[in-house]
Amino acid sequence: MTAIKSVRGRRVWDSRGNPTVEIEISLEDGTRGRAIAPAGASRGTREAVDLRDGGMRLRGRDVTGALEGIAEHIAPALIGLDAENQKAVDERLLMLDPSPTKETIGGNATVAASLAVLNTTAASQRVPLWRYVADLYGCVPTVPLPEIQIFGGGAHAGRRVDIQDFMIMVPGASSFEEVMEITSEVYFAAGDIMASRGKLAGVADEGGWWPVFSSNEEALETLVQAIEKAGEKPGERVVISLDIAASEFGSNGRYRLALEDRELDSGQLIDLLGTWLDAYPIVSIEDPVAEDDRDGMIAFTRRFGDRVQVIGDDYLVTNADLVEAAVRDSACNAVLVKVNQAGTVSESVSAFQAARGAGWGAIVSARSGETEDVSISHLSTGLGCGQLKVGSFTRTERMAKWNECLRIQEELGADSFAGAKALDRTWWGRNKDKSK
Ligand code: PGA
Ligand code: ZN
Repeated sequence: MTAIKSVRGRRVWDSRGNPTVEIEISLEDGTRGRAIAPAGASRGTREAVDLRDGGMRLRGRDVTGALEGIAEHIAPALIGLDAENQKAVDERLLMLDPSPTKETIGGNATVAASLAVLNTTAASQRVPLWRYVADLYGCVPTVPLPEIQIFGGGAHAGRRVDIQDFMIMVPGASSFEEVMEITSEVYFAAGDIMASRGKLAGVADEGGWWPVFSSNEEALETLVQAIEKAGEKPGERVVISLDIAASEFGSNGRYRLALEDRELDSGQLIDLLGTWLDAYPIVSIEDPVAEDDRDGMIAFTRRFGDRVQVIGDDYLVTNADLVEAAVRDSACNAVLVKVNQAGTVSESVSAFQAARGAGWGAIVSARSGETEDVSISHLSTGLGCGQLKVGSFTRTERMAKWNECLRIQEELGADSFAGAKALDRTWWGRNKDKSK
């Protein structure tokens, strides 16, 4: 037993310059540790909410109410608890706010508290966080295969294009280092192509190039060209992954593609995505339809689920009950795990375990508002989930997570890299031997 001695909240700032919550824990044995809450921009309606002050100050985004809740409710509830009992800590947090979206105490406060306890306990045991997580949940630690954004769109780029994330994955790499090298080549090749066309206009929220394109397809074409310019054959070592984030441009079965000024119903959107799957080497699609489009998600998964990874983000909001319902529906075949969508580590792990139990894939993910906190690199490795989504290949709040994976791989060895195994369920996985 290592009792929690103090819990202290403080206001820090995220990658978009918004206030966010950090919690620092100290234990009776003298160990100190901390964690910071990230923040989403394309949020699911059923995810844990960030408690923000509202009003005019700091555009309503300040977190003084959340910090008061930490001092008045969270600290007294956690002090004296055994930090090694993560489940009990998280249950205590849930008791403070039983509302489904944690709107009373704030998901930003609970996630910082929950992750801070996890971090501090690992430090107290003098083991890296990934090892502590692997031991706690009985998983085989695995260095993840990343999804890395090359162009940012949707809510992360003033809706300049409809689709939110145009990413690459490098399942043909033999190590995490090699993924970094190849991604760097592709990222700058994409920038060079845009510059040569007079279309370089900075970067989006997660550091991917700002998408000065006249159609979503132009973004896909440019991505393929960038992969080629980097000396790779698209679909061999390097493949494409998309986060459609369809809830951002559709609801009630209607989807408005602003860039092309046209409206699609759910079936037409699915058909359109199908043409992209035929034309481009895409292995993974996240939120292909909106969070309220159950029939659409079932239809999409039925048509394409044996070819591509179908990830539920806003659709599942890291919630075990929603994962179980989707498993029953045969909607999606992979879950995105964002700890702040659930609000605690234990709930996130339950969602992960529900997905794993059904044979699904799982991807630990950052948010578009991030910080120097690198807990998710360890969580992904420790849970052995095989994949990690962090955003782009620039900006330190992103690179810190990739760099942490490099350190972890150094310790675990290149054999622990998930690589191709992460995409075994996709066309790429089935054809990988042919591509060598
Ligand atoms: P968010 O987006 O962090 O802005 O919600 C990330 C994602 O949709 O995966
Ligand atoms: Zn998403």
